[in-house]
Formats: sequence, C-alpha cells, structure tokens
Amino acid sequence: KGVIENISVIGTGYLGATHAACMAELGYNVLGVDIDPEKIDSLSRGELPFHEPGLPELIRKHVDSGRLRFTTDLDEVGAWGDVHFIAVGTPQQAGGTGADMTFVNAATRSLARSISKDALIVGKSTVPVGTARRLAALVEEESAEGVRVTLAWNPEFLREGFAVEDTLRPDRLVVGTSDAADEAVLREVYSEALSRETPWISTDFETAELVKVAANAFLATKISFINAFAEVTEAVGGNITTLADAIGHDTRIGRKFLNAGVGFGGGCLPKDIRALQTRVGELGLDHTMRFLDEMDQINLRRREKVVTLAEQILDNELAGKRIAVLGVAFKPLSDDVRDSPGLDVAVRLFSSGADVAVYDPEGNRNAAKRFPRLGYVDSLTEAVTGADLVVLTTEWNEFKALTPGDLESLVAQKQFIDARNVLPAEEWEGAGWRFAQLGRFFHQA
Ligand code: UDX
Repeated sequence: KGVIENISVIGTGYLGATHAACMAELGYNVLGVDIDPEKIDSLSRGELPFHEPGLPELIRKHVDSGRLRFTTDLDEVGAWGDVHFIAVGTPQQAGGTGADMTFVNAATRSLARSISKDALIVGKSTVPVGTARRLAALVEEESAEGVRVTLAWNPEFLREGFAVEDTLRPDRLVVGTSDAADEAVLREVYSEALSRETPWISTDFETAELVKVAANAFLATKISFINAFAEVTEAVGGNITTLADAIGHDTRIGRKFLNAGVGFGGGCLPKDIRALQTRVGELGLDHTMRFLDEMDQINLRRREKVVTLAEQILDNELAGKRIAVLGVAFKPLSDDVRDSPGLDVAVRLFSSGADVAVYDPEGNRNAAKRFPRLGYVDSLTEAVTGADLVVLTTEWNEFKALTPGDLESLVAQKQFIDARNVLPAEEWEGAGWRFAQLGRFFHQA
C-alpha cells in the first residue's frame, strides 16, 4: 500500500455512493459527504434512496468493516482526506438546456476552503468542457497558504444497474491532469484496476471532460440512428431488428446500442447531449453539434409514435380506454424515472383521457412522486386486467417472458404495443392479437 489512505467522496447520489463503496472495497478508508442529513443517515444504515443491484450490500459490508463512513461535515474531510472526489450532480438547468453548475461550483469552493493538508481534488461529475481549468484556478485561489491542493478530472462511465461492476472493473480509466504528480496519485488510487491492464488514458483537462460527453453523444446517436431507420421501415415494411443485426455484424459498427424502440432516457444521455450543444454554442461552434438536436428530436418522436399507434389501435378514441403501461423506469434494473420514455408515454395517454394502469417492478414509487394522478398498480396482472391495450415500454425480464397465453384471459381486448421490440410478433399475431412494434409496418385492421 502506498501513501494514499483516506479518500473522501463529496456528493452521495448515484455516482458518489457507488464510488465511495467501491473505494472502500479497494481497501481505502472512505468518508462520503453530503449536505442532505437524511441521505447521510440512511446511507450510514446501509440503506439506499435508489435501486442499484449489489450496492446496498457493498455499503453495508464496509460500514461494518469500518472503512466507510458518511458525514455532513465538510471540515472533517478537509483535515482528513488525501484524495477528494467530487461527485455532485450537474442536472439540466431549470428553464434551460445547459448544465446546472451550482453544486459543482459550491462543492469545490467549500472543499478547497476546508482542506488543511496536501490533497488532490478529483472531479468526476459530467461537466461542460472548460470547467476543470476554471475550477483548478478556483481551488488555487481558495485553498489555504502552505498546503498543496491541486485538481484533476476523472470522468465516470458507469451505467445504472451495473454501477458497482462498472466502477470496480471499468473498461477504461481517463484522467485529465495538469501535473505528472497528480497523475501518479491517481495511478496509485486505481492501482488495482491497472494491475489488470485496464486501459489508462492520461490527458489534459479538456480532453478528459470531452471524452465523457463524446461517449454519451455517440451512444445517443447510435440509438437515434437505428430509430430513424425504424421510421423508414414503419413506412415501407422491413424488419428493423434484422437490419440492426446485419449492420451490427460489421465489427466497425457493432450490434450494441442498436436496439430500436421508444428511445433513450435517464439522467445522462438526454441532458448530456443538450448540455453539449449548449456549451459548443457558447464557444461559437453551434453548427458542430447541430446533429445532436436532430438525435434528440428523433428520440422524442418515438414517444409520440407510441401514442399514435395507441390511437390507431383504439380507433382514435383514447378517452375512457383502459391502457396498461408496463415500465416507467427509463430502463430495466433501475428505479430511475428521469426523462423516462415509458413515463412520458403514460402521461401522454393519460392526458388524452385514457384510464392508465402503470406497473413497473421498481419505478412506480418515483413515478408517483412526479405524476401522482396516474393509476399505479402493484402487479403485472393487476395492470393488464380489463385492459383494452397493453403497452410495453421498459424491457424488464418479467415483461420479456410474457406469452399471449399469460394475458388472454385477463385483458378486455387482445391488443399490444411492444415499444421495445422484445417479443416475437408472429407468435402474438398468430394467437389473434393486434400487435404493434416500433420499426414495423402496422396493418390497420
Ligand atoms: C449512460 C451511459 O451508458 C453511461 O456510460 C454513462 O456513464 C451514463 O449514461 P445509463 O443512463 O445508465 O448510462 O443508461 P444506458 O444503459 O446507456 O441506457 C440509456 C438509454 O438508452 C435507456 O433509456 C435505454 O433504454 C436506451 N437504449 C439503450 C435504447 O433505446 N436502445 C439501445 O440499443 C440501448
């Protein structure tokens, strides 16, 4: 073991809680800091305010081992930590499209002021390019004389649902530093991953910041690319899944993130492409990322398409129709409903007067906080009972395993929209269902 012993993580949301637990798993003493005392209380008991497989167990393990603690006191960390990770949120600005930097700015400033021993501050949050350089200057200005406090940028690529795995076994590590000594500190922090020959990309601040947004912009583009072709196959016929499989065999393209459906959502992809466009606009480079606006539009059109299909199937009369919406988490294994396509579809159907029954294995609670007026039910069976139409919007295993026989005796009408293209259409049609998918020509009965 080297000289790094104490690691603090500022911000204990999704990213921070995961990072803190994983750093403890790697053997460090970790202090998680948050301004929200309730969050700190529940984390200290090993309880998470969100759903993430494996994370509660890992937190409890290290709260018990004594390596992981949580506090609201920033001054405590300032006197203690060798390395401080900043993992606070950068949500979309209220009433704007840029990233809200309030939390990052405030956390960095207070942290820099509270630090009383040599330390490295490492930014993990997804930020507009140029932030790290600005914060490095802020840190220099705010930190006490006689202590060496520097800043590095180390973007995080974790996926919800696989957060622990992605953090402990990342497919690459990217660090932006302005000083070789800072890079050496991070090499030590991540020595366990480096011993497995995880690719290590050491670069400047700007590249490190941009790697993160470029990766998310590329993923969003892949999804919208295939969804644009889905609009074509909807018009002309053809099979979007076969198309994706076929182009995906070209290893230069790859099959991943080419699943056509109701599109991307969540706390990252949508806000990150908007923030990127906003940022390049500020730099006078509006035109460079204009295609991302198109990707955003394609993505949002998929949600409208589901509503249009529902209208087609229900003879243009949604009012009073019972519609089961299966899935309001933005993706399976998550309870996150931020910018969720499924929840958006449910709200649109509800606004058109439909009697919506929402069921999600994990997402109902968060959805109900945002849209309390939708009808939430506790089981798949309850959702589909008496339904005039069933709409699958999140591909949970429980929904992927559905067969026509499971629903036949429960629904009022055998009508189904598979908005994630995960069920075998022919089988459902063969069993007498009006069955629609995205990217598939839909025969009007
Ligand atoms: C994403 C990035 O993958 C991750 O690297 C980054 O750190 C944060 O943003 P996440 O938001 O957890 O992670 O979700 P992801 O698994 O990427 O899915 C994003 C959305 O795209 C989901 O709504 C998903 O349903 C949708 N999606 C994904 C598709 O519609 N089609 C696909 O082929 C893949």
